[in-house]
Amino acid sequence: MAAQRETALFWTLLGRCRTLVPGQSRSGWSRRLSSLPPPPPGPWSSLSRLPYRDLYRLSVTDPDRFWGAAAAERLRWMEPFQQVRDCELSRGEISWFRGGKLNVSVNCLDVHVEKHPERVALIWERDEPGTEVKVTYRELLETTCRLANTLKTHGIGRGDRVAIYVPVSPLAVTAMLACARIGAVHTVVFAGFSSEALAGRIQDAQCKAVITCNQGVRGGRLIELKATVDAAVKNCPSIQHVFVSQRTEKPAVMGELDVPLEEVMASQAAVCPAEPLDSEDVLFLLYTSGSTGKPKGIVHTQAGYLLYAALTHQFVFDHQDGDVFGCVADVGWITGHSYVVYGPLCNGATTVLFESTPVYPNPGRYWETVERLRINQLYGAPTALRLLLKYEDSWVKKYDRSSLRTLGSVGEPINHEAWHWFHSLVGEGRCPLVDTWWQTETGGVCIAPRPADPGAPILPAMAMRPFFGIQPVLMGEQGEPLSGNNVSGALCLSEPWPGMARSIYGDHQRFVDAYFKQYPGYYFTGDGAFRSEDGYYQITGRMDDVINISGHRLGTAEIEDALDEHPAVPETAVIGVPHDIKGEVPFAFVVLKEDLPDAAAAAAVLQQLRKLVSTKIAKYAVPEHFLVVKRLPKTRSGKIMRRILRKVAMETTGDLGDISTLDDPSVVEEIVEAHNQYRKQREEKKK
Ligand code: PRX
Repeated sequence: MAAQRETALFWTLLGRCRTLVPGQSRSGWSRRLSSLPPPPPGPWSSLSRLPYRDLYRLSVTDPDRFWGAAAAERLRWMEPFQQVRDCELSRGEISWFRGGKLNVSVNCLDVHVEKHPERVALIWERDEPGTEVKVTYRELLETTCRLANTLKTHGIGRGDRVAIYVPVSPLAVTAMLACARIGAVHTVVFAGFSSEALAGRIQDAQCKAVITCNQGVRGGRLIELKATVDAAVKNCPSIQHVFVSQRTEKPAVMGELDVPLEEVMASQAAVCPAEPLDSEDVLFLLYTSGSTGKPKGIVHTQAGYLLYAALTHQFVFDHQDGDVFGCVADVGWITGHSYVVYGPLCNGATTVLFESTPVYPNPGRYWETVERLRINQLYGAPTALRLLLKYEDSWVKKYDRSSLRTLGSVGEPINHEAWHWFHSLVGEGRCPLVDTWWQTETGGVCIAPRPADPGAPILPAMAMRPFFGIQPVLMGEQGEPLSGNNVSGALCLSEPWPGMARSIYGDHQRFVDAYFKQYPGYYFTGDGAFRSEDGYYQITGRMDDVINISGHRLGTAEIEDALDEHPAVPETAVIGVPHDIKGEVPFAFVVLKEDLPDAAAAAAVLQQLRKLVSTKIAKYAVPEHFLVVKRLPKTRSGKIMRRILRKVAMETTGDLGDISTLDDPSVVEEIVEAHNQYRKQREEKKK
């Protein structure tokens, strides 16, 4: 079993190391920390006592006062900011808290170590139930400093990019905070991505180093992370060092770039001065998919991002001091950044790092973890709920869930069945369920119900209401803002907020084009939404060629690019189709070269295509359906009519709409026929 082979070396060697480096007494901590004066209670303390609605009103009528007060008091500044905001959305120019200097790691660690050094910061809920590791704020600060010093002694400093390719673990958090401490820019890459996907991100960001571990452990299985990194860095000349932690006992095969992390960190000082950084210095890049091929490196900066993550974490989830916050997302996605790491730690919370899967070792895993760790807020993706609700209710009922106060859902629309199951069965109808809408680009939750607003209704499967400073606008087909209620349109946000992305790394024009061009002066989200009779918002889904597989966002163009690399495949088109559990899955229409000898050769090509997507992107991106067609439906100008492909895949060809612009309308019949055959074959197979 994986449990016998796994280790918590990172913490047994370092985090729990009580000895301080010679010459550094514990009082040294307090001396150093006291040089950063805690802010006196100011306007935010009185403002935040206002009823939620009044606070929202203030945030949109007087954003400078609202955000200025929040930033001054909620963050620890090394130098005060001079200007609250300076933004010009039509040019994608966004700047908050200009002139201020601060350090994010000080705000997430030092300020809490001053007040409660032995409070648990992280509970690492490891793959094997009952083997959790707790890490206090003091331990996390010391280990972060050791890792920060390790990076510095290897030539990494302010502005350098560092890739982090590790599973959910204290190492991930420490690595992010160590970068933040010295002003390096982290880019966490989800540890399920392939070596090519990792290499692409490293190359785009020109990373100087990678932090990884020998193996990952998930669902009782071992994942060869170091081998993936080795394959990636072969094609990444910018990489100077690969820092390797030992997650399991199997020794990693070390090459010339590799640095044994625990060994080197053990000899580093547990104190590291925090770099004073400008509010608008880059904190991290996070790659995400758009409607065109290449993933984009979304840029988030220091002060605005941190403040927004912290305020949303507190208000959306009704987080109270002393709560145990359980966000089960992976740190490789924005949800992990904002609600496993930065939001909770800035608020001094105890945050859970969930390494396992919802069904390991059985479908009671989440609820057993809630009982054992006394989790107060549980935040996850609808895809996991849809999977779990298929099992007996007894898997939920046999565990004590009385600690739960707020439930949260994110990443994709939550269907009514999953909403009611989560709310009524898991939360016994007494915990508000917040369906939170947001994006990698927004930095934190933008639209959600408000559990802290007494008497406010929460309607099933509705994201509902804008957070502080957020002003949603729905646009009609002619690009005009739609007034009134009971309307659907393209969801835009009309005013800047501190957590919003600042750019796409290395390509600011792409940032402007993707988000600010279609509706000049507005941020366009790419999603559609409906405003109900009562003025609440419901997200209706993406309006572009981005799909959502188990809450993971992916551009269909990325999958097409991977498929098109096969020499026997002249052309493909990928669309998303609904799936019971995953929400959506990719459906690939594939044109094969005509000279393939027989059906066996075609089947072999499809098998190779599956492999291609898995090695170029990740396993989850492999299309669930492949339909071989002779040609694709195209307009006279050569554009693929995806609308028709969607109708074919969804078997709604009775209503094809206008096909007069098709170059050759007979293509539709061909594709419908091919799909009928495909459907029959699948039904046969099921029997
Ligand atoms: O389409 C929306 C969907 O996820 C997209 C953002 O994906 P990503 O940047 O990976 O961030 C996911 C986690 C914040 C959005 O454009 N989405 C996110 N939350 C919801 C949602 N769709 C419906 N309801 C939600 N609550």
